[in-house]
Amino acid sequence: MAYIIDGKSIAEQIRLEVKSNTEVLISERGIKPGLAVLLVGENAASQVYVRSKEKACLEAGFHSIVLRMPDTVSENEVLNIISTWNNDNAIHGILVQLPLPKHINEMKALLAISPQKDVDGFHPENVGRLVIGLPGFVPCTPAGIVELFKRSKIDLAGKHVVVIGRSNIVGKPIANLLYQKKPYANAVVTICHTGTGDIRKFTKQADVLIAAIGVAHRIGADDVKDGVVVIDVGMNRIADLSTKSGTRLVGDVDYDSVMPKASAITPVPKGVGPMTIAMLLENTYRSAAGEVF
Ligand SMILES: NC(=O)c1ccc[n+]([C@@H]2O[C@H](COP(=O)([O-])OP(=O)(O)OC[C@H]3O[C@@H](n4cnc5c(N)ncnc54)[C@H](OP(=O)(O)O)[C@@H]3O)[C@@H](O)[C@H]2O)c1
Repeated sequence: MAYIIDGKSIAEQIRLEVKSNTEVLISERGIKPGLAVLLVGENAASQVYVRSKEKACLEAGFHSIVLRMPDTVSENEVLNIISTWNNDNAIHGILVQLPLPKHINEMKALLAISPQKDVDGFHPENVGRLVIGLPGFVPCTPAGIVELFKRSKIDLAGKHVVVIGRSNIVGKPIANLLYQKKPYANAVVTICHTGTGDIRKFTKQADVLIAAIGVAHRIGADDVKDGVVVIDVGMNRIADLSTKSGTRLVGDVDYDSVMPKASAITPVPKGVGPMTIAMLLENTYRSAAGEVF
């Protein structure tokens, strides 16, 4: 039976550590970590994410700014807001909630964020730093996955890690992190995607399988070998009439069938999901404390 990697309680632990480190940072150096979030438009999921981030910041004792703009805001206004925050010493992290409305170029907005305040780690400078193993901001979900390995004492050295998905926010950064010659990495990494064809050929060889696909229950028991470690990043809503909302959150992995074969597995929910906000807090704290670059 698999060891269940409890992302919820690991994330809570990290949030408590950030809160207590923040108290010390404020009392000893007079620095209060500040996170500024720009939310454009009415996207329901984005509104939920931003509310959670705001609440988490306040709980950690941070200075929190959330600027909500209508989707009629111009690209120039967005760039001006980011520029003001880049020059504000009370702000150590800047986050532009994606997606942006079509008339605003997302890459232009991400490029406008100072790499020194890019706590999402999406700026090409931080992406490049990650790839060549230099210090910098690591995107929150991949950073959270590495933290799950560390705190569960799962050593990846020499292991075959198969990542399914090559998005800029999950697949590419986690693959790049795990082949680095560093502790809790140094793995052999394979990346699968829609061009792979028979992904089972690869998933069956995985000592560690990371699913960041966005397809409910895409990975079943027949896709994995005995003893695999499974990290399920997927967050997919499926119909479930037994719940009040009529839907239920499930991962990319069919948990019930894969769990008995796995040596360790993250559940959905309460696995990778809670780690993302915890690492956003951690990134913002480390930015304020001058620990990133
Ligand atoms: N827990 C969290 O905090 C968190 C954070 C971010 C994302 N997520 C969740 O993680 C999942 C992935 O997110 P994402 O942003 O990385 O998604 P994405 O940008 O849609 O990327 C999905 C990737 O999976 C690949 N893929 C899709 N269907 C496939 C299939 N049938 N076989 C093989 N590969 C396939 C795609 O390949 P191509 O490149 O060839 O299209 C793509 O690279 C989603 O469920 C999302 O909600 C969770």
